Amino acid sequence: MARKIILDCDPGHDDAVALILAAGNPEIDLVGVTTVGGNQTLEKVTRNALAVLRVAGHPEIPVHAGCGRPLVREGAVAAHVHGESGLDGVELPEITGEVADGHAVDFIIDTVMSAEPKTITLVPVGPLTNIALAVRKEPRIVERVREVVLMGGGYRTGNCTAVAEFNVHTDPEAAHIVFNEDWPVTMVGLDLTHQALATADVEEELRALDSDAARFLLGLFGFFRRAYRDNQGFDDPPVHDPCAVAYLIDPGVMTTRTVPVDVELNGSLTAGMTVADFRAPVPESCSTRVAVELDHRRFWDLVIAAVAAVG
Ligand code: BDR
Ligand code: CA
Repeated sequence: MARKIILDCDPGHDDAVALILAAGNPEIDLVGVTTVGGNQTLEKVTRNALAVLRVAGHPEIPVHAGCGRPLVREGAVAAHVHGESGLDGVELPEITGEVADGHAVDFIIDTVMSAEPKTITLVPVGPLTNIALAVRKEPRIVERVREVVLMGGGYRTGNCTAVAEFNVHTDPEAAHIVFNEDWPVTMVGLDLTHQALATADVEEELRALDSDAARFLLGLFGFFRRAYRDNQGFDDPPVHDPCAVAYLIDPGVMTTRTVPVDVELNGSLTAGMTVADFRAPVPESCSTRVAVELDHRRFWDLVIAAVAAVG
């Protein structure tokens, strides 16, 4: 049976790849997409989600708009990484569908509460605002969700600050809620996603597909490559968000370790840091895992196959 997921995202170049992977892989049943302000404003990322689902050949998948700003702090978009549109580098297709009725938080709650227990997996790949609010509004989702597999954080490095990653840094209070609830959380953080590089070979494989979706990704990667080179000194851009989806399709695509993870809220240098405790022994109650090592070939095989499938 395909894995039922809700993808909570802020497209975003790598979010777009996550959407295409989720929509194009038969092991995933993308029951809905929820959006959150992050890489760009809520309005822009919601429009982008609709446009990408159109590219992915699944405009019928509902898109619910969620929170436009973090729980406590001021929001800040990442135009230097994703451009003014949030998806600079491509011309977005005209949107045919509409944003679905109902706030993202209510969609998450209703979907989880009406499904069989432990059948819905939450895949947040933006700031964790919607997920945290859903937990606060309906705490019973914690025991009903199958697991949370999120892109965010990092145990060795940050990208917004020396130690804080963008999604967690944007809304650390929300991340704190998500990491401290008693549900299985897998943190697919920068330690892992910095290995998911869109190399020249990957681009060559996409070019060989000669399809609209492949050309769309190539346009995205062109902009993303320049942004990562200019802002963070990368030769090839790290394509973060689809790593979380890939893990659900094929857990063998990465190695993980079970370790306690918490979120720093107060440090003057470390706010938004995900603090992973690698000391032994691991407490029996530990429900958090961190992603460690990516099988680069296996990961890109999944992405390329999904792009080929959506045409
Ligand atoms: C994360 O931040 C965003 O810019 C990306 O979409 C990804 O989710 C990487 O730090
Ligand atoms: Ca994202």
